[in-house]
Amino acid sequence: SVCDIGFIGLGVMGKNLVLNLADNGFSIAAFDLDISKVEGVIEQDKAESGLSTARVIGCTSYTELLSRLKPPHLIVLSVPAGAPVDQVCENLIGAGIQPDDIVIDTGNSLWVDTVAREKKYKNNFILFSSAVSGGEVGARFGPALMPSGSPYAWTRIKPIWEAIAAKVDDATGKPIERTKPGDIVTEGEPCAAYIGPAGAGHYVKMVHNGIEYADMQIICEAYQMLRDGLALSSDEIADIFALWNKGPLESYLMEISVEVLRHRVGEDQTPLVDLILDKAGQKGTGLWTAVSSLELGTPAPTIAQAVYARSISSFKDLRVKASTILSGPELITLDKNEKQAFIAQLHDAIYSAKICAYAQGFQLMKLAEKEHDWQLNFASIAKIWRAGCIIRAAFLQSITEAFERNPELDNLLLDDFFAKQLSKHQMNWRKSVSNSALMGIPTGAISSALSYYDSIRCAVLPANLLQAQRDFFGAHTFERIDKSTGKKYHVNWSTPTRDMVEIG
Ligand code: 6PG
Repeated sequence: SVCDIGFIGLGVMGKNLVLNLADNGFSIAAFDLDISKVEGVIEQDKAESGLSTARVIGCTSYTELLSRLKPPHLIVLSVPAGAPVDQVCENLIGAGIQPDDIVIDTGNSLWVDTVAREKKYKNNFILFSSAVSGGEVGARFGPALMPSGSPYAWTRIKPIWEAIAAKVDDATGKPIERTKPGDIVTEGEPCAAYIGPAGAGHYVKMVHNGIEYADMQIICEAYQMLRDGLALSSDEIADIFALWNKGPLESYLMEISVEVLRHRVGEDQTPLVDLILDKAGQKGTGLWTAVSSLELGTPAPTIAQAVYARSISSFKDLRVKASTILSGPELITLDKNEKQAFIAQLHDAIYSAKICAYAQGFQLMKLAEKEHDWQLNFASIAKIWRAGCIIRAAFLQSITEAFERNPELDNLLLDDFFAKQLSKHQMNWRKSVSNSALMGIPTGAISSALSYYDSIRCAVLPANLLQAQRDFFGAHTFERIDKSTGKKYHVNWSTPTRDMVEIG
């Protein structure tokens, strides 16, 4: 039979995307180098659908895969970023893929690789990219999709992507639930909107992940403040997080943190989290976001700090050794009222830090947009992150509204709503950061966000002295606020008269 879509790569994400596509009425020809994965998805599809004929056809080669599809072929890749994507592309060429066939890369490819691949393969096929967010459950029941590349390819992909994507009620920004195999959701706004030319979608997904790193780290710092600062148990922390999850901090990451903290294992029912080694892994997207922010010269300290926090965590042996050598402050014990205040302050601190992390991510995308001439629609990006993806949160509705009010917004902190939120919560944020400093608990993300906020709202930074230092040792020149813009000056620091000259 002839299928709508060819699917390559049946790992956790791939398998669930296939089942999602099948639920939405698309027929699929599936291929994986590991034949047991092909058999696995067919079995699961039959079991879930209750149909005697599978909605998924298994293929044993690239050639068979192509022969099972309607031309022009539409092929979805769910393979690890990097060399595997190139390998599959080459194999498809070997199998006779045609120039008007479309290949969609759904992995977390580095955006510059996507740009290069689109060019490299343009005579062989159309490479389209569409990163997927939402983990395995998202892939199965509605992910957020960030499509980019050929506008023609998008016209073919759009109805499929809109069918399988997560959906939200556009007015409230609330996700529309879909949790069972066989369920489909036809109403609501799909979390799949065209982002821009090749590379733009992967860039936006990269920044999504950078924000994800920051968001996770901020929650983890709050956890450590409660665990080490107040000596609370995992259950007590879960109760606090569950309460926070009912307010402006409502988010998927907060929700799963509650579930994780409550999970107990073994005969003595130890909280699992107390048994997990404190060394964080990473696959690169957060690092790429931080690198890109440095390259573009736009500050994203909270995102970078989240990457560093993972790096520091990986030096377990060093930390264990240092913990016996380096001293911290005396233990502080708080009374009941002080504990309540500590918790309230921490809530406001993480809410404020979270706003700053998103402000950094959106400003980074704005700079990248200018640099690469992409014309990103920030309200639309915030909209597709309202459901399906890992950073989905109630507060993405407020970000959507901020960019709808002003599509040209330079920085989220300048939006009226967010400026007021930060102004309202800043004193608690400051107290929480000082609590962490006095207690010796690291809060790099939360503190870096406060420093970011204070730098952004500071009309005069000490960079005047910095410029003078640069001029002193390297004749790097400086501008003057009492002279016309653009004119450069240098002081002959090494001469006794230290006379000043105008350069250029
Ligand atoms: C998503 C996630 C997903 C993946 C991250 C994890 O949006 O669904 O971001 O893409 O889980 O890449 O990254 P690390 O392994 O680097 O934490």
